[in-house]
Amino acid sequence: MTTLKLVGATAPAHKLWGGRFAGETAPALDALNRSIGTDFRLWPFDIRLSKAWAVALWNAGVLPLEESQRMERGLDAVAARLRAGATPAASDEDVHTMIDRLLHEEIGDLASKLHTGRSRNDQVATATRLWAMDACAALDTAIRGLQRVMLEHATALDREGALMPAYTHLQRAQPVAAAHWMLSHFWPLDRDRARVAAAARAAATLPLGSGAVAGCAYPISRVLLQGSLGFARLSPNSIDAVSDRDFVAELLFALTMLGTHLSRLAEDLILYGTSEFGFVQFGDAYTTGSSMMPQKRNPDALELTRGAAPRMLGDLVTLLGTLKGLPSGYNKDLQDDKRALFDAVDTMHLVLPATAGALAECTFRTERMRDALSSAMMATDLADYLVRKGATFREAHGAVGRLVRESEETGTELHSLPFKSFAAAHPLFDHDVYEALSAAASVERRDVEGGTGPNALRDQLEAARAAIAQ
Ligand code: ARG
Repeated sequence: MTTLKLVGATAPAHKLWGGRFAGETAPALDALNRSIGTDFRLWPFDIRLSKAWAVALWNAGVLPLEESQRMERGLDAVAARLRAGATPAASDEDVHTMIDRLLHEEIGDLASKLHTGRSRNDQVATATRLWAMDACAALDTAIRGLQRVMLEHATALDREGALMPAYTHLQRAQPVAAAHWMLSHFWPLDRDRARVAAAARAAATLPLGSGAVAGCAYPISRVLLQGSLGFARLSPNSIDAVSDRDFVAELLFALTMLGTHLSRLAEDLILYGTSEFGFVQFGDAYTTGSSMMPQKRNPDALELTRGAAPRMLGDLVTLLGTLKGLPSGYNKDLQDDKRALFDAVDTMHLVLPATAGALAECTFRTERMRDALSSAMMATDLADYLVRKGATFREAHGAVGRLVRESEETGTELHSLPFKSFAAAHPLFDHDVYEALSAAASVERRDVEGGTGPNALRDQLEAARAAIAQ
């Protein structure tokens, strides 16, 4: 048998394994395998769980108290070095290897005892869960920041009594309170917050103590570990525990939906900011100019928000694709879960403050909104008028349709048609029909829960304020 030697061996790296290997790993594998560039940021969580593990080992009678305490102090010293800017060595395979190397530098050979009973499999799962729980809390704060801006705009628009067209198929449909439109972007974010919170709950299962796959052979107290690390429950099965990345998928799905919602908000604002709509005027801080066209003011922050949404989707699909092919237990494919997770969360932390800032800077031109309300948009109200007078809705729909056709053919707004046109369209039309054609009256009538009417809107604003306070 011949083996091809492609590349020479490099200086021996600090490794957590290797006893059973006679030769060095190929640089090409090292390069592929090295995850420190991605997982370095897990270090505060790895330190935390390692300190808890040192205590657990003492508790289980594996280490004397003195050694366990020296280990804890050593880990504190490592953390201090990392906080002060210690960077990975070229040979560090991953964050766990790096911390192990630094701990050896701090406390010598005793560091080798820390890995007793644990594996990087339960270690990385625990660190990633801790990171995700932390990330969910920060995401919640960032989402709420954007919701607060929405609520401020909605409150101001409501105070002004601003009305605007609501669109379906991007065609003018019916008049609504502008605050009602603004809040239509608030509630999706409220659901996103609930999904992020659910992902945090999914992450709060402790895998530590599962070892590589079969559980830990030392009598460590997983319950104590759970308490000291702030987990809600213990993983019930060690095979499942080292491969369960459901919480990553759940968070990525939550962020995909959030990205989609932000994209829709951004698109509304970009559209409403065109000269053709003119409902929105952008501020200076979140727009850019053109190198060629002096008149341009481009809503870059919003466009980048819209453009970022497929990133989260890509991250979600990447992770699901990875999980889909795996047998049970830990497989190295799982190492890439963090790349997808961190990319989505990082992107959100860029997008959320920029969207909040861009929205905060928007000025709503309520007179332009009102000008966009044509009386054709009150066609439904006209039909409702006939229904209130005793017509069936089908019959009313037909009569109003004829009036709309006449209005289009003669180039006359519905409210400017002579009464005889109404009378000809349906005998139940009376002179009070012109009141049914007012946008304000149309909005006022839609006062069911969740409608755009004034009482419903007051309740909605109150509910939004309560939601944000939680
Ligand atoms: N860097 C690895 C990861 O992120 C740590 C686990 C390594 N486990 C192993 N059996 N080689 O998944």
